[in-house]
Amino acid sequence: MTDTFEEIYRRSIDDPEGFWGEAAELVHWYRRWDTVLDDSDAPYYRWFAGGQTNVCYNAVDRHVEAGHADQLAIIHDSPITGTQQKITYGELRDRVAVFAGALAAQGISAGDRVIIYMPMIPEALVAMLACARIGAVHSVVFGGFASNELAVRIDDCKPRAIVAASCGLEPGRTIEYKPLLDKAIELADHKPEHCIVFQRPQVQAEMSAGRDIDWNEAVAAATPVDCVPLDALAPLYILYTSGTTGQPKGVVRDTGSGIVALNWTMKNIYNMDPGEVFWAASDVGWVVGHSYIVYGPLLGRNTTIVFEGKPVGTPDPGVFWRVIEEHDVKVLFTAPTAFRAIKKEDPGGVYLDRHDTSGLRALFLAGERTDPDTLQWATDKMGVPVIDHWWQTETGWSICANCLGIELLPIKEGSPTRPVPGWAMAVLDDDGNPVAAGDIGSLVVELPLPPGTFPTLWNARQRMFDSYFSRFPGYYETGDAGFIDGDGYVFVMSRTDDVINVAGHRLSTGAIEEVLAAHPDVAECAVIGVRDQLKGELPLGCLVLSSGVDRDHADIIRECVGLVREKIGPVAAFKLAAVVARLPKTRSGKILRGTMKKIADSDEWKMPATIDDPVILDEIGAALKTLGYAT
Ligand code: COA
Ligand code: AMP
Repeated sequence: MTDTFEEIYRRSIDDPEGFWGEAAELVHWYRRWDTVLDDSDAPYYRWFAGGQTNVCYNAVDRHVEAGHADQLAIIHDSPITGTQQKITYGELRDRVAVFAGALAAQGISAGDRVIIYMPMIPEALVAMLACARIGAVHSVVFGGFASNELAVRIDDCKPRAIVAASCGLEPGRTIEYKPLLDKAIELADHKPEHCIVFQRPQVQAEMSAGRDIDWNEAVAAATPVDCVPLDALAPLYILYTSGTTGQPKGVVRDTGSGIVALNWTMKNIYNMDPGEVFWAASDVGWVVGHSYIVYGPLLGRNTTIVFEGKPVGTPDPGVFWRVIEEHDVKVLFTAPTAFRAIKKEDPGGVYLDRHDTSGLRALFLAGERTDPDTLQWATDKMGVPVIDHWWQTETGWSICANCLGIELLPIKEGSPTRPVPGWAMAVLDDDGNPVAAGDIGSLVVELPLPPGTFPTLWNARQRMFDSYFSRFPGYYETGDAGFIDGDGYVFVMSRTDDVINVAGHRLSTGAIEEVLAAHPDVAECAVIGVRDQLKGELPLGCLVLSSGVDRDHADIIRECVGLVREKIGPVAAFKLAAVVARLPKTRSGKILRGTMKKIADSDEWKMPATIDDPVILDEIGAALKTLGYAT
């Protein structure tokens, strides 16, 4: 008889070393680990210390050697260019081995950093896997970020090389990457030695002699190289994510524990069997892309879909159903915002009826809370379990989910179900005491975190401690608030910090404020995330102008919007701003962003006891009304 969820969960908590040691037996090691869990440096824990393995070997070569060279590894489906490309595991191994050779020919070896700035094309995966093959640490930067954000990442991780494409394609817009890249290198103090540029047919990038190398030429001159055995603790990648300041956090994923955890999740959470098609409709620039476009499905010998398109407009709201039908997708993973976009354009599901999606077994949603409307619509229309699951860049895989491969538990609206095996959760009040079932508090995880999570922040060990371990000793502070009900179901309600979630993308209001404050006419500002029907939240800025500024407010707002787009990128989706006379503050000077948000969202709010001057809130309400909020 198979074990129930309860039994498996209990064992993972009571005997984590036995549990994860067993999971580790399912992947290839050049050298077995000395200890499953090394706690000698708590709260920094290390999994599988002493072991040696290679992610690329486990994700690609292992399957080829086991006789699956002809199975499809990648299907690239690009409704934007109207092209498709299918790559078998055998072809992928060959392409990755040669590109790894091209990197090695530039002197790149284990431990060197490589930034990858590419859109949703197979070459992005080839570049990532090639780094993993030789132990270079990749850092993928999302294409929707501007040069300045890229420069910050270049200075933080100091790459020896940058691998880029000539362009990305958004509906109706071609984004030339090379000028953005050149500007970023100009802005950065650290200068990479080389840029390897993949020329897409849509744009020929101009190359800088001596520094830039054409991808095809590099590949033509390279000899394939083999996978390098790496320490389990060696970093596989750095992925930058928003913190509360303009300086992003470099989340590190290590080699050994990442393989073990992601491999485990493919069957146990997503119920995927080798040979089946898995589709994470996200972007390689996000953690979902790292874990479930690239590494997870390839470790599990699935076929992964690399989709260059949008849920709507490429060309219509039926594109998801077309891809599911055409490629026989078994599990789809995307963000609720994608479904809200489809629902808005095709509420009756007319496009869905034109396709046979009967092969689909489940829809997984993450990136933001799945609202009950979206859950119901998707469930009614698709007729498969719709599973909300909660995770973060830091965790690399889900903290809470309904584990389809173990036992499908009843679905409760608004909840990502229960903690997954490996995760022991608690809800604490501000003093660190557990709260009663159903009461809201900080969502925390008992240490150690399971394998596959982040062992550290790049160059910022102390920041890791300060951000995640210091407030509640013995726990990892997720930065989310919520509650656990009497059945053990977790409800994630909001962030406890200044991070907001726009179309499933994590943004720092602090980073946007830093850009706005740099405008010469802005004396101070506050950015809040206001509720949005499509994107979940949108950033909205309240600007206080310097005294004596008598320019047209509309001009200043237009410049501020342009500045955020230029400095952070279009992905910030910053378009809403109002000029206000003053900002509401506590007597100690803290801006009352939480109250501003409640007013903007027209939620119930209480006058904060510590407010300096209550009248300001009326002024803020009036300003928000002009933007269509606080109605
Ligand atoms: N490169 C360059 N620009 C990009 C980009 C990229 N890779 N991705 C997005 N952008 C741009 C968009 O073109 C848009 O620009 P605009 O202001 O000129 O219109 C801006 O960044 C904001 O993008 P986004 O918030 O994604 O809005 P959208 O209107 O383009 O699309 C959705 C809305 C809901 C369809 C879209 O967000 C979506 O498909 N989301 C899926 C969820 C997802 O991928 N989540 C990731 C985590 S799982
Ligand atoms: P990111 O690191 O970009 O993946 O963003 C992580 C944050 O997104 C979390 O801390 C949550 O605030 C939010 N989030 C992700 N998934 C969910 C979910 N299923 N329910 C609620 N919030 C979520």
